[in-house]
Amino acid sequence: TSAAGARVFALGIQAGETAFKEGQATRTWGVNGSYLGPTIRARRGERVELAVHNGLDRETSLHWHGMHLPAAMDGGPHQPVAPGATWEPRWTIDQPAATLWYHPHVHGATADHTYRGLTGLFIIDDSADDSADDSADDRTDDRAQGLPSTYGVDDIPMIVQDRAFDRDNQFTERIPLAGSLGVIGDEILVNGTLGPYVDVTTRLVRLRLLNGSNARLYNFGFSDDRKFSLTATDGGLLAQPWETDRLHLSPGERAEIVVAFEPGASVELRSYPSPEYGGASGRLDGFEDRLDICQFRAAATLSDDAELPAVLADAPDLAGAAVAAERSFSLAADKINGRSMAMDRIDFGVREGTVEVWEVVNDNGYVHNFHVHDVQFQVLTVDGEAPPPHLGGWKDTVLLVPDRRYRLAMRFTDHTDPNVPYMFHCHVLQHEDDGMMGQFVVL
Ligand code: C2O
Ligand code: CU
Ligand code: CU
Repeated sequence: TSAAGARVFALGIQAGETAFKEGQATRTWGVNGSYLGPTIRARRGERVELAVHNGLDRETSLHWHGMHLPAAMDGGPHQPVAPGATWEPRWTIDQPAATLWYHPHVHGATADHTYRGLTGLFIIDDSADDSADDSADDRTDDRAQGLPSTYGVDDIPMIVQDRAFDRDNQFTERIPLAGSLGVIGDEILVNGTLGPYVDVTTRLVRLRLLNGSNARLYNFGFSDDRKFSLTATDGGLLAQPWETDRLHLSPGERAEIVVAFEPGASVELRSYPSPEYGGASGRLDGFEDRLDICQFRAAATLSDDAELPAVLADAPDLAGAAVAAERSFSLAADKINGRSMAMDRIDFGVREGTVEVWEVVNDNGYVHNFHVHDVQFQVLTVDGEAPPPHLGGWKDTVLLVPDRRYRLAMRFTDHTDPNVPYMFHCHVLQHEDDGMMGQFVVL
C-alpha cells in the first residue's frame, strides 16, 4: 500500500539490445528500456516509493548514490533483488537539491552490471514553494531561481561513459594487462548515444554531468578553452558559482556547470589529458587521451531568460562542529586499512546525531577515489590546506590524488540500524569489486 501523496516509480531491470551503431545490435541491460534508465525526480520532503523489478536471469540491485536514506533502502550489497523478484524501497527525501544517480551494487559484480547499462539519474529538487506545480520542470533552491532549469532544453543531463566494442559490436570488458583501473573504452557515450550533439536554443545552458564510467577519469573542457561556471557538486549547489576552464570528474562524481553560448557557433565539450595523474600506468589508464564528448550547436538566435545568480546556497557548515570521532583510511592494493571487504564484517559504528572527521589517503600511487553512503561530506582540508573551489561544496565522492591527506567531515542523522550497514569504498568499480570497500552502521 502507498502512503498518500507519495511519488511512485516502477523500474523494470531488463536485458535487451541497443543499436549504438547503425544496424548493429549490442547486447545491453537497461531500466524500463534496453540501455540506461529514466531520470527519477522528486522534491525534498516528498515520500518516494519505488518498485524495482528484476527481469534478469541473475541477482542484481539498484543503489541510490548520494541519497540520505535508511540503510535497508540503500540498494547496496545487502539488498540484492532475486531474478523475477520486486524490491520496494521507500523513504522521505531529506536533502537539498542535487543531481544523484543510481546503479547496481551487488558485491563482486558492480563493475559488470553497471557496464552493461544499469544507470540513471535521480534529481532532487528543493523549493520553498510547496504549492509549485508538480509537473513544472523548473524546481530548484529558491536562491538559485534563475539558473537554467527547463529539463532537456537548457538543463541537460549528461551521463558520460566510455565503452570498448569488440569486432561483433559487443561491449568488451577486457582489462588492459598493465592498466590499474579496469576496463577503459575508447568510444564515448553520452546518455547512451555515440557521437552526440545538442541543439542549443538558449544563451545559458546548465549541464548535469555524471561520470558514469567504471574507471575513466575525465578532465572536461571546451574545444576553444572557454570558461564555464561550476554551480553544483555531488550533494548540491555551491555557495557561489566558480569559473574555470577545466574540471576533473572521477567515476561516480557529478557536477553541474553553466555555459554561455554565442548565436550560430558550435563548440565541442572534450576531455583533455590529465598530466597530474600520469602515474605508472598513464597511457593504459587513459590519462593521456583527448576525447570528444559532445558537440553543442547554437541556433542563429538564442533566448536569454536565465541568469547566473551570484549566490546559490549556504556553504557547508561542518568546519567548526564538535567532532565525536576521527578515523583514518588508507587505500592501497585493493584494500582499505589492509582489509578487504567482507559481507559479514562491520568495520565500525557511528553515533547518530554526531559529526565525524575521516582522514583518507591514497597510499599506492594509482588512482582511487572515496565514496561514502548515506551522507554528503565537507572536504575540510587537503594536505592541511583549504580545499580548491571545486571541493568547496557537499560531496559524496572525492578523487584522491596520491599521498595527499583529505580530511572529510560528515554528520550522521537519523536512520539508525544496528544490523544493516552502509558502504564506503573506492568508486573505480573494479577496485570496489576486488575488495576496496568497507561497511559501517549508524547506531
Ligand atoms: Cu555509487 Cu557504493 O556506490
Ligand atoms: Cu553510493
Ligand atoms: Cu581505487
